[in-house]
Amino acid sequence: MPDPLEDRESLNALLLKVYETAREYTARVDQLPAGGGARRDQAADEFGGDLPENGNGSLQTIHQLVTRGQEAATNSSGPRFFHFVTGGSTPAAVAADWWVSTIDNNAGLWVSSPLASKIEQVAIEWLKDLFHLPSGWSGVLTTGATMSNFTALGAARQWWGQEHGTDIAKNGTAGLPAVPVLTSGYVHASVKKALSMLGIGHNTVRMLGGDAAGRLDLATLDRELRALDGAPAIVIATAGEVNAGGFDPIAAMAELARRHHAWLHVDGAFGLFARLSPITSDLATGIELADSVIADGHKWLNVPYDCGFAFVRDGRLLNAVFGMGAPYFPATEVDHPDFLYLGPEMSRRARSLTVWATLAAYGRSGYRAMVERHVSLAQRLGKQIRASSDFELLEDPQLNVVCFRYHPKGVDEAELDDVNRRLGQSIIADGRVYFGTTVYGGKVAFRPAISNWRTTERDVDVVLKVTRELSEGIATAV
Ligand SMILES: Cc1ncc(COP(=O)(O)O)c(C=O)c1O
Repeated sequence: MPDPLEDRESLNALLLKVYETAREYTARVDQLPAGGGARRDQAADEFGGDLPENGNGSLQTIHQLVTRGQEAATNSSGPRFFHFVTGGSTPAAVAADWWVSTIDNNAGLWVSSPLASKIEQVAIEWLKDLFHLPSGWSGVLTTGATMSNFTALGAARQWWGQEHGTDIAKNGTAGLPAVPVLTSGYVHASVKKALSMLGIGHNTVRMLGGDAAGRLDLATLDRELRALDGAPAIVIATAGEVNAGGFDPIAAMAELARRHHAWLHVDGAFGLFARLSPITSDLATGIELADSVIADGHKWLNVPYDCGFAFVRDGRLLNAVFGMGAPYFPATEVDHPDFLYLGPEMSRRARSLTVWATLAAYGRSGYRAMVERHVSLAQRLGKQIRASSDFELLEDPQLNVVCFRYHPKGVDEAELDDVNRRLGQSIIADGRVYFGTTVYGGKVAFRPAISNWRTTERDVDVVLKVTRELSEGIATAV
C-alpha cells in the first residue's frame, strides 16, 4: 500500500467495518467473559513482527485489528470487569469519542479548536456543580488521576515555593528545604509518582497510618504539623482508598491544614463521586475546604480512556506552573480559554467532548442513579460474603469496592495468603469475572470494584459463585 493520500477512497469501508464490528461487539459484551478469551495472551503475541516495508493495506490491517484484536483484548467495557477501578463508557460517551477522533481537533488553544475549548470550559463548570465544589475554583482536564495529581500538586508546590519567597516554576527548588508532605497510609501510588515527577520525591512522604490498613492517625498529623511551627506543608487526603474504598477524615484534615498553614490536596479518583448521592456524601464532607482535588473521568464517570480532572482553588497557580507561551501562540482573549496554559500538555485530545456529552445526556440524576446502584450492588455482595461460611469480609463496603478473602474452615491463617493468591490467579485465568488480589491490613485479599454502567445484580452474583467454584481443590491442595 502506498502513500495514505492514495487511500482516501478506503475511508468509508474502514469506518463501516469498525461500525459493524463495534455494533455486533457491544450487543454481546454483556455475555462475554470479562477477562477475554482463553487464547488472549497468544493472540496478543501474534501482533509482533517487523515494521512492514510496504504497508499491508488499510482494509487488511483494520480487519486484523478488530477481529484478531478482539481475541487479545479483555472485555473491560463489559459488566463483570471488576479489576482495578474500571468504568465502562456510556453510550453517549462512546459516540462522542468516535466524533473526537473523527474531527481530531487539538484542545490546546481556542484558535486550534473553539469547540473543544468552549466545551472544556462548560464541562469543568458542570463537574464542579456535580461534585458541589466552589464555583470560583479553576479546573482542567487531563489524561487521568495520575496526571491530575501531578497537575494539582504542581500548583501546591508552586504555592509552597511562594511561601518561601520564590517562584519554583521559574527558579526550580535549588537551595530550598525538602517539601514536608504528610498523608495517611491510604495514599495511592499515583500520588507518589506525581511527587517523583515534581522533584519533591516520594521517599520523604510521611505516611501517618495508625493501623494495619493505613487509617490516618489524626493526632499524629496534628503533632507533625505543629512541629513545623508555621512552615508551609502539603497534606494529602484520599477520598476512596483503592483497596477497600476508605476515606480519610477530610473535614478534620482541612481544619488542621488551615490552622497549621498547609495546602490540602484530595485524591478523589473515584471517591469524589460519593458527593453525588445523599447516601454517601457524608464520606466526602470537607472536600470543598481543600485547596485542590482531583478525580478520574475514565473510572466512575464512564467516559473512555483517558480522562481525568484537576480542580484548584487558586487557578493562578496552575497558570504559573503550566502557562508557558510561545511566539507562535496567540494571546488569550477574554472568555476564550486556552487550556494548554493550565495543564501539562501543549497539544491535547478534545476529551471534554465525551465529558460534556455524557453529562448532557444523563444529567445529575442519571449519575446519581448509577452511583447509588453501584453502592447498593457493593452492599449486596458484602451481605452475601457476610452470610457465607467460606468467605470473610475485611471491611464493610461503604462505596463501590468490596474487600474480602476466601477463608474456609480448617485452613490455617498462615496459609490463607497463599491460598488467596492462587485463587486470584485462577480467577484471572478463568476470566468469567475479573478482579485481582491486593494486600489489605497485611492480608492477601480480593477487591472487586463496581463502576461500570452496565453492571447489574446478575453480574455481581457471579462473583462468589465463580470464586467458590474455582476454590475447589485450592484449599485442599495446600
Ligand atoms: C485513589 C486513586 N488515585 C489515583 C489513581 C490513579 O488513577 P489513573 O490510573 O486513572 O491515573 C487511582 C487508580 O485506581 C486511585 O484509585
